[in-house]
Amino acid sequence: MPTPVSSVPTLGLPAGEDVPVLGLGTWGMGENARRTEQEIAALQLGIDLGMTLVDTAEMYGDGSTEDLVGRALVGRRDKVYLVSKVLPSNASRTGTIAACERSLRRLKTDHIDLYLLHWRGSTPFGRTIEAFEELVAAGKIRHWGVSNLDPDDMKEFLAAKGGTGVQTNQVLYNPSRRGIEFDLLPMLKARKIPIMAYSPIEQGRILTDRTLVDIARRHGATPAQVALACALRDGGVIAIPKAADVAHVRDNRAALDVKLTAQDLADIDRVFPPPKKARPLEML
Ligand SMILES: NC(=O)c1ccc[n+]([C@@H]2O[C@H](COP(=O)([O-])OP(=O)(O)OC[C@H]3O[C@@H](n4cnc5c(N)ncnc54)[C@H](OP(=O)(O)O)[C@@H]3O)[C@@H](O)[C@H]2O)c1
Repeated sequence: MPTPVSSVPTLGLPAGEDVPVLGLGTWGMGENARRTEQEIAALQLGIDLGMTLVDTAEMYGDGSTEDLVGRALVGRRDKVYLVSKVLPSNASRTGTIAACERSLRRLKTDHIDLYLLHWRGSTPFGRTIEAFEELVAAGKIRHWGVSNLDPDDMKEFLAAKGGTGVQTNQVLYNPSRRGIEFDLLPMLKARKIPIMAYSPIEQGRILTDRTLVDIARRHGATPAQVALACALRDGGVIAIPKAADVAHVRDNRAALDVKLTAQDLADIDRVFPPPKKARPLEML
């Protein structure tokens, strides 16, 4: 197993803030009291190992995940870049502000660092942006962004009043979900807007893929590390694997030491071909 590098590399958001390229997902945490202590320990270990970007959402566990994250951050809040998301059904001007205040209470903090629109709903983007800006002015969020927007939605968002303040688009991205490489990823890279790759190990489903297993063996690594190294290979991407098992947290952290070769990438292209034309954005 590779030994961890000394610090997690960072990437600059458009507003100038540096965030780690490897963070911590939380979907599914906080839903079973018997797993609470283990989940808190996993998040705290991840933060202590430098994966200090924590991603959550009001949707997860109907708020119970944010509650667990708040407990995990006690004594560590100032080390963490905290990301949460507003549901599209709450994304009106007043609804966004009320949802954020509920999230802040559950997260036991006075501010969220990056607040995302979880996916596009029926509220015009401009209304949500107005609410985001009010929340920034009140010090309740520091920055804001979007999730699950395809290239057309993204262009529309950027053209909305104030839309260029967007800091990221959080989307599904892993070796088996490469559609964004055709259009969304280059479009955002050109604007220096990083994407945040969710489900970067496809919720575990790609870990038995023979090619990933073979590549992992060549590096003395694991298939999860290969998937993460693949997501991070070209820059402009922040990966947020979720791990409730401390061994998985350590494994993911050490993915930063895995450098894929041209041969590895060619092997991945053979089993998971890069897109040759636009594909509809996939969501989980
Ligand atoms: N914006 C959106 O719409 C959206 C959608 C989906 C996800 N997300 C965010 O992205 C985060 C990550 O995505 P995800 O949770 O869907 O899937 P994921 O991170 O691809 O996979 C999580 C699963 O992989 C396992 N795992 C983690 N590290 C591993 C390792 N090194 N070896 C083997 N198994 C490992 C975890 O097990 P253990 O938990 O047992 O360790 C868990 O079952 C979410 O938690 C959430 O914060 C956002």
